[in-house]
Amino acid sequence: MKILSIETSCDETAISIIETNSDITNFKVISDLVISQIEIHAEYGGVFPALAKREHAKNLVPLLAESFKKDPANKEKIDLLPKTTKEIKEILEREPETFDMLIAFFKNNKVSKIDMIMVTYGPGLAPALWVGVNFARSLSVIFNCPILPINHMEGHITSILLNDNYKISDEALYPISDFTFPMIALLISGGHTQIILVRDWGNYKILGETIDDAVGEAFDKVARMLGMKYPGGPKISKAAENGKENGNITFPRPMLHSDDYRFSFSGLKTSVRYKIRDLEKENGKLDNQTISNIAREFEHAAAEVLLKKTMKAINEYSATSLIIAGGVSANKFITSEFKNETKKNNINLYLPEKNMCGDNSLMIATAGFMNLRSKKAPIPQCEIDAVGNLKF
Ligand code: KG4
Ligand code: ZN
Repeated sequence: MKILSIETSCDETAISIIETNSDITNFKVISDLVISQIEIHAEYGGVFPALAKREHAKNLVPLLAESFKKDPANKEKIDLLPKTTKEIKEILEREPETFDMLIAFFKNNKVSKIDMIMVTYGPGLAPALWVGVNFARSLSVIFNCPILPINHMEGHITSILLNDNYKISDEALYPISDFTFPMIALLISGGHTQIILVRDWGNYKILGETIDDAVGEAFDKVARMLGMKYPGGPKISKAAENGKENGNITFPRPMLHSDDYRFSFSGLKTSVRYKIRDLEKENGKLDNQTISNIAREFEHAAAEVLLKKTMKAINEYSATSLIIAGGVSANKFITSEFKNETKKNNINLYLPEKNMCGDNSLMIATAGFMNLRSKKAPIPQCEIDAVGNLKF
């Protein structure tokens, strides 16, 4: 079975094609493409939803074309009947540019046969999600195939199933029986900070989440205060490498001792703001060493609360394994803290491959594949909506 997956929940437009093996125990990656909008949003200091929507609408058809180019399978022309074209025009009513590009593409190109579409339907920026969902609906009409709607967060969780050789191997996933439950998943991204109990693939319960800013968002905001461009996470983490402990620069560990799994990063961000203000008042513009010291202390504060609460969940639920996923899982200091602590406690730690930390569509295909294995039924294209605040 050949599956095309689509991701447009935030500022990455992504399309992948995978092919499952005959007994649906594993799959092969045929193509996996992402266009990042980071540069475009950088000047706004964060993701600007209307702009993200416009860029997704512009990027999807060229990505689709490139994806089919990468597929060596036999291709055929699909002649779109007037009735089909009319139906797609209605679906893409709000993305007329995508409609024109899509029709022109099918008129001029042969394509391989797609048996199922998978698409992120939430959580994320609603205008951005809708572009992907409407594109998925259009393709499902063209290929006369069903759609499986996928939760973006389930995509991040299952991204750790992709093995080191996923790009070239006929079996992109680790053997599924290698994983034991219960697991705890820590999802840390620009939009989310959640601790999730994973009782099995597809069986998730949120134990706690942030009550204000997501941890990635706090990294981005602090970076901005320090004069670094969006996305600030990688820049803070780089600056922190040169940071030194300094008794004059200390930040709180919010909710460290609260007896639950909730987080709060807004207060931490505000303390950084006050500290920068005070230091600038005393000494003028911050020098690079002070910036590094602030970055280091901020990173330590964020890491400490993430670590303490996650380990508490592992103990309470007698979890055997920990998954850390989402964009912030690319942070070397945070992951090294978790590596030490899980090793000490004999807990398996699963992190996504480097390319899988940020948003992508292969993780959506992986989550969908796991849904198929557990016999979750795909649905007809007319019944799918984007849900910005989708929960498990
Ligand atoms: O999962 P993701 O690509 O998109 C969302 O769904 O949000 O995560 C992006 C977030 C941004 O806030 C970015 O600053 C953060 O991940 N990030 C990092 C690092 N790399 C990316 N944060 C801290 N350290 C990093 N190395
Ligand atoms: Zn994400």
